Amino acid sequence: MEEKIIDETKQGIALSLESKAENTRKLYIESYGCQMNFSDSEIVASILVNQGFNTTSKLEEADLVLVNTCSIRDKAEQTVRKRLEKYNAIKRINPSMKVGVLGCMAERLKEKFLDEEKIVDMVVGPDAYKDLPNLLKEIDAGRDAVNVVLSKDETYGDISPVRLGTNGINALVSITRGCDNMCTFCVVPFTRGRERSRDPRSILEEINDLAQKGYKEITLLGQNVDSYLWYGGGLKKDFKNASEMEKATATSFSGLLAMVAEAQPKLRIRFSTSNPQDMTEDVLHTVAKYQNICNYIHLPVQSGSTRILKEMNRQHTREEYIELIDKIHEIIPGCGISQDLITGFPTETEEDHQDTLSLMEYVKYYFGFMFKYSERPGTTAARKLKDDIPEEIKKQRLTEIVDAQRKHSAYRTNQFLGKTVEVLIERESKKSDAQWSGRNPQSLVVVFPKESYKLGDFVMVKIADCTSATLIGEPVGYSSNN
Ligand code: SAH
Ligand code: F3S
Repeated sequence: MEEKIIDETKQGIALSLESKAENTRKLYIESYGCQMNFSDSEIVASILVNQGFNTTSKLEEADLVLVNTCSIRDKAEQTVRKRLEKYNAIKRINPSMKVGVLGCMAERLKEKFLDEEKIVDMVVGPDAYKDLPNLLKEIDAGRDAVNVVLSKDETYGDISPVRLGTNGINALVSITRGCDNMCTFCVVPFTRGRERSRDPRSILEEINDLAQKGYKEITLLGQNVDSYLWYGGGLKKDFKNASEMEKATATSFSGLLAMVAEAQPKLRIRFSTSNPQDMTEDVLHTVAKYQNICNYIHLPVQSGSTRILKEMNRQHTREEYIELIDKIHEIIPGCGISQDLITGFPTETEEDHQDTLSLMEYVKYYFGFMFKYSERPGTTAARKLKDDIPEEIKKQRLTEIVDAQRKHSAYRTNQFLGKTVEVLIERESKKSDAQWSGRNPQSLVVVFPKESYKLGDFVMVKIADCTSATLIGEPVGYSSNN
């Protein structure tokens, strides 16, 4: 679980098991960045399976290579550029291979991509995937193709994703797209457009289908899940006017959570990401009420200094964040909380940095994702503030917060010694093929001897040992959830 401590842009080469025998063309699809990108690649794969493609894990044999890209930090973009070099080398051997760039970098750079990277044939933004069949025709005819139009209503709710690289146990279900928050450091509102919510019926259908296929845990995904809001449904004639109808039929995030939890009481439910400013008590009560919603909240804070939070256009103070943390513990005892933090934001002083460290000390997060500030072109911070914290200071502060997090993680894992926790088995342990690896509700990794348990089982595990990142134990029987 070391990757949870420091920023490592996640990467995945994904293969689908759902292929069609009659399909002859081969698609190689690779994803970088956030979970939303991984989820989007499943939508893209679903569209392409209907266009005569099956997925392959061998780059050399691909007819079409798609890379789903991330722009969140400069490093993420550099990683993608390196991959393009690799594709270029393969294209020299196989000149008919086509290369398409998807996702946030496609949206940010648009047509410029075609000039900057000669090997790219197609550039497709996150809201334009339904146009892929047309864009493919263009590149098949030897023309470059670009669609980076952002949408106010596309949610891909009507597309049933093809699951990629799946263990058949965990699945991602997207519930909102885009973000309206405009944090000053963040490129997402520019690359993913306006926030919109997906029809709850299509969300439920997808989840029921996953449960029926044997999946055991779903994560509801959005840049800001707490602002999920669906207006609709019902017949106008049943209401006095449109606004009354909207109010009466609106589904909020807590409403959606309750619906999902009730529809599938055996499924473990997680959600990501919560923005402190939009999280309501309703959501906390819903998490507390339903046993199958995991007691775990990813609650990015970015900084512990109210002054920096204001510069970041986060809509809460340090004190309000602390109040929310206290409320979480009061309403959901034993809730796991994790963070995202940015260090070295413009104008950050040593005092601001100490505020971050003291906030961490107060919360003692279970784990976290910590990043050095990376200036993103076009954002308010890039336009208005000089990236004035020297690299060595950013590095030094990052080391300090990573060290503090390691200490807090160890504190949290130690609290589980001697306790028995419910674990969903998700994979074989990386260190030993005699051990299973899964997570407890608080999202801590637990490893234990396989005995006769199987992937996808819910097992009670008594914790005997731990590191700062992992709980180690012995299975004591099946959980009642099996
Ligand atoms: N709301 C989204 C945030 C996406 S970005 C989500 O909840 O997942 C994920 C994290 O990347 C942010 O929380 C922030 O900590 C970090 N991040 C975003 N922009 C950044 C930048 N310009 N430099 C460094 N880190 C950044
Ligand atoms: Fe980015 Fe802030 Fe939205 S971090 S994704 S603008 S909540």
